[in-house]
Amino acid sequence: MTMKEIALIQFGLGGVGRAVVERVLAAQDELEWRYGIRFAYVALCDSQGAAIEQQGFTYGDLMRTVTAKAEGASLADLDIGYDHEGLADIVDVAGTSNALVIDVTASDDTVEALQLALSRGYGAVLANKKPLTQTYETFLSLLKGGRVRYEATVGSGVPVIATLQQALIAAHDPIHRIEGCFSGTLGYLTTGLQAGEAFSALVRQARASGYTEPDPRDDLGGMDVARKALILARTMGWPLELPQIQVEGLFPDTMNQGTVPEFMQKTVDLDELYRQRVATAAGRDQVLRYVATIDRGRAQVGLQEVPRRSPLGQLQGTDNLIAFHTDVYADAPLVLQGRGAGVHGTAAGVMADLVALSTSFLI
Ligand SMILES: NC(=O)c1ccc[n+]([C@@H]2O[C@H](COP(=O)([O-])OP(=O)(O)OC[C@H]3O[C@@H](n4cnc5c(N)ncnc54)[C@H](OP(=O)(O)O)[C@@H]3O)[C@@H](O)[C@H]2O)c1
Repeated sequence: MTMKEIALIQFGLGGVGRAVVERVLAAQDELEWRYGIRFAYVALCDSQGAAIEQQGFTYGDLMRTVTAKAEGASLADLDIGYDHEGLADIVDVAGTSNALVIDVTASDDTVEALQLALSRGYGAVLANKKPLTQTYETFLSLLKGGRVRYEATVGSGVPVIATLQQALIAAHDPIHRIEGCFSGTLGYLTTGLQAGEAFSALVRQARASGYTEPDPRDDLGGMDVARKALILARTMGWPLELPQIQVEGLFPDTMNQGTVPEFMQKTVDLDELYRQRVATAAGRDQVLRYVATIDRGRAQVGLQEVPRRSPLGQLQGTDNLIAFHTDVYADAPLVLQGRGAGVHGTAAGVMADLVALSTSFLI
C-alpha cells in the first residue's frame, strides 16, 4: 500500500493536547496497516513558544516535550523550542502539502492561522470552540471546503457532530429539535445537588478535581454550554450569533465582579436557594438538569426541571446526553450518551477527525 504522509501542526499542549500527541504516537502502526497513513508532527506551539522540525519530530522528542509540558514548562524553555510571534507564522514555515492543523487551545486568537492553513489547502481539527463561535461569517469561512472537523467541541469524544452531519443532515432527515446536557461539570453539579450536597461544596469539589476552569464562573455562567449549542445550531445551518442564545447562569450577575476566592466564598449564599429548588422539583418527581435546547431557529441553555425517570433525569455525574428529534426519529428521539468530559475522550474525538480528514480525498 502506498503510504500517505500527513504533517501535523498542533496549537496547544495542555491536558487535551498532550493526550492527542500520545494517542497519535500509540496509533502509528495501526494507522499504517489499516489506512495507509503516517502522521508526522512538524510543529508544536503553546501560548509562548513553538518548536518546528520539518522532517518530523522523533518519538523521543515528542515524549520528552509532553513530559516537560505536564511538569509546567513552556515550549520556549526547551532545547527544541523558541519564542513564537504568532501561530500564522508557524503555519507558514512548517506547513507542507498534506498538512493538518490541530487547535487544542482555548484561545480566541487562532482564526487567522486556521484561515491561512485552509487557504493553503491544509485541513484543521478543532477541540477549541472559540473559532467556531465568533461571527457566523467566520464560522462559514472556516467550514467552507469541508476541511475543518470539530467533533471534540461538543460532547468530547461522543460522536455528536458526526451523527448530526453524516447520519441526519446527509440523510435529509429534517431536525426539529435537539436537547441535552452537554456539560460534564454541570452534570456533576446537578446530580450532586440531587443527592443532597450543598451548592458551595460541589463547586469547591468540582474545582479541586479539575472539572471546572480555574475560574469556575466560566462553566457556571453557562457560556461554555451556549457555545456548544451555537455550534450545533450553526452546523444545522441556522445563522445564529452567540448573543442571541438565551443563557441562564447558575449565579447572579453581581457575582461576576470580584476575584475567584471572593466568588467561591459567596457561593455559600446560594446553598439555600438550590436546596429549595431541588426539594420543590423532587415534590413533583422531577430533578434539576442544566439543559440546552435548540428548537425552531432558537437556542437556550439553563437550569430546568425534568422528570426523574426521563433519560435526562437518569443522567449521572459527568455523562452527557444529546437527543435528536427528527422526522425519522419522531416517536422516540435518536439519543447519544456517554462520557462528555476528560482529556482522553476529547483526544479520541480529535483523533477520529484526524483520521477522517486524512482518509478523505480532501487532504
Ligand atoms: N478538558 C476537556 O475535558 C475538554 C473537553 C472538550 C473540549 N475541550 C477543549 O479543548 C481545548 C483544550 O483544553 P485543555 O483542557 O487541554 O486546556 P488547557 O490545559 O488549558 O491547555 C490549553 C493549551 O493551549 C495553549 N494556548 C493557549 N493560548 C494559546 C495561543 N494563543 N497559542 C498557542 N497555544 C495557546 C496553552 O499554552 P500554555 O501551555 O503555554 O499555557 C496550553 O498548552 C479547550 O478549547 C477546551 O474547551 C476540553
